[in-house]
Amino acid sequence: MADVEQLKKEAGIAACSFVKTGMKVGLGTGSTVKHTVIELGRMIAEEGLDIVGVPTSLATEKLAIEVGIPLVKLSSIDGLDIVIDGADEYDPKFQLIKGGGAALLREKIVVQESSAMVVVADDRKRVDVLGAFPLPIEITPFSSSATIRALGRLLDCRVNCRMAGDNAVVTDNGNLIADAHCGPTISNPEKMEAEILNIAGVVQVGLFNNMCDAVVLAGANGVETHINQVGRLA
Ligand code: A5P
Repeated sequence: MADVEQLKKEAGIAACSFVKTGMKVGLGTGSTVKHTVIELGRMIAEEGLDIVGVPTSLATEKLAIEVGIPLVKLSSIDGLDIVIDGADEYDPKFQLIKGGGAALLREKIVVQESSAMVVVADDRKRVDVLGAFPLPIEITPFSSSATIRALGRLLDCRVNCRMAGDNAVVTDNGNLIADAHCGPTISNPEKMEAEILNIAGVVQVGLFNNMCDAVVLAGANGVETHINQVGRLA
């Protein structure tokens, strides 16, 4: 297993220590949190962990069913105890870029319903200033080129429609993803989030501000848990 894959696995598994019997758990999307989902399945089967999960994507739903996590609909419950999810970048204030896997809309809805958010990451995700990772923005298929042009004018950078070969990537919600190549310049992500959401045609943006309460970070020196001192787990 390549080093980075090992780090993802270590972070993903370590984050399971936040999950206790009786909890309602948001299950994130991506190559790091998939290890969390697999480990939770093992804990249910082997240790009697008793939880229900809400997946943030069709891919995670499929994996959760495969590993035996009982799932419920977010609409049928009154909030979640915790969500564990990956991130593409996080800054010193625990602000995040997410959406590299195109699941940002469902991820944000699930975070919004959760009492706490734990991010799992390898140490490549820690940055001083957000934006080297292209910022994912979910947009409507209707008039997508016009929305992308409006985003380009607002952000003053290259914005492109995410492609998979010759076809545009379509999200689980039937929308498209625009990626904004801002560069590491997003020093005020709250202002940027509000401005982007103000554009008609934008469904959601992958800036997750004031949502992350802890990061379980795997690096060369092992796994560290960083608690956001102004978050809900402090
Ligand atoms: C999915 O849309 C994303 O928000 C992922 O959570 C994020 O891209 C992190 O994914 P990896 O763990 O695969 O890097």
